[in-house]
Amino acid sequence: MHSALLIERGISLKPYNTFGLPAMAQTMVRIGSEADVRRVVDHPELGRAPKFVLGGGSNLVITQDVERCVLKMEIKGCRLLETRDDAWIVEVGAGERWHDTVAWCIEHGLPGLENMALIPGTVGAAPVQNIGAYGLELKDRFESLDAVDLTTGRTVTLDATVCRFGYRDSIFKHELAGKSVITKVRLRLPRPWQPMLGYLELERKMTETGITAPDARQVFDWICAVRRAKLPDPAVIGNAGSFFKNPVVTAEQCRDIIGRDPEIVHYPMPDGTFKLAAGWLIDACGWKGKTIGHAGVYDKQALVLVNRGDAIGAEVLTLARAIQESVYGRFGIRLEPEPVVL
Ligand code: EPU
Repeated sequence: MHSALLIERGISLKPYNTFGLPAMAQTMVRIGSEADVRRVVDHPELGRAPKFVLGGGSNLVITQDVERCVLKMEIKGCRLLETRDDAWIVEVGAGERWHDTVAWCIEHGLPGLENMALIPGTVGAAPVQNIGAYGLELKDRFESLDAVDLTTGRTVTLDATVCRFGYRDSIFKHELAGKSVITKVRLRLPRPWQPMLGYLELERKMTETGITAPDARQVFDWICAVRRAKLPDPAVIGNAGSFFKNPVVTAEQCRDIIGRDPEIVHYPMPDGTFKLAAGWLIDACGWKGKTIGHAGVYDKQALVLVNRGDAIGAEVLTLARAIQESVYGRFGIRLEPEPVVL
């Protein structure tokens, strides 16, 4: 079927970002298929305009009206593409919600994503920032993705090497930022399934319940419970998940900080560096539960900034800068924001 593009003008973005920040989009187009992306590329007006791809808006701080043409990703569909000896390959439309996909896989006997349950956002956004939680990252379950080039309209299939996944990072935050639209993601779920239970909170659940060999559904339920207990539900309190990345420091820097603050939460990385818990650093500076203007620091997790009601993007940034300054003042560490700032 060949349908024309529906171009919307002067759209409020408040319902489309989980922080609930006010801003208008001059132009917005809903993308329901790969063909829709090509229609945008071929469009006389939109073809050349700078573009911004909007997924679930869960990793976004909007500080001003958006002049770029907003492409609202709504490509649906989830299916088992292939059953191999060593893996199931599941193909998912970029506009599906990530958590719904995790739940769908569990329901269809396709385990392997459960540690990443309840991460907000869409499937298409998952590779952009290489989402991760509880010992697992998207890159560990990634097969390939399809993306449409916004200049040529051509579809390319990219594997993990090309995507250059890093900690909350990929090529889509750099060379390919604003240049292509992810339309489909293929996930690779290893067979036989093995639970990943090496995280303190999961070990605690095993001790509490006496269940030492949980199935995927059980792990899924535990992860949901752990997250609900300490992260705010964006449908109730506006937020964008972790606001800063966990900083990585050299062994020498880490020793130096431990010398002054023996309690600091730190994890050794395979390359000899150390990852520090940004939430701990912010908490140690006394920020938990604090508010500036209408933006605040969540009282159960200092790494999450929240909208206390009617906040604007500038207030969130003012709070973020104040936190960065105090963490730098006390620890000499520069915290880097995790969400995209528009
Ligand atoms: N901590 C404090 N005070 C706080 C917050 C944390 O002392 O206010 C301490 C905790 O006690 C813990 C350590 O800091 O010892 C780490 O905290 P947590 O386990 O909550 O994990 P995180 O490092 O803060 C990261 C991811 C989360 C992911 C969790 C679980 C980043 C930026 N964040 O958080 O991802 O869910 O681990 O794996 O890497 C996200 O990216 O939006 C996100 C929520």
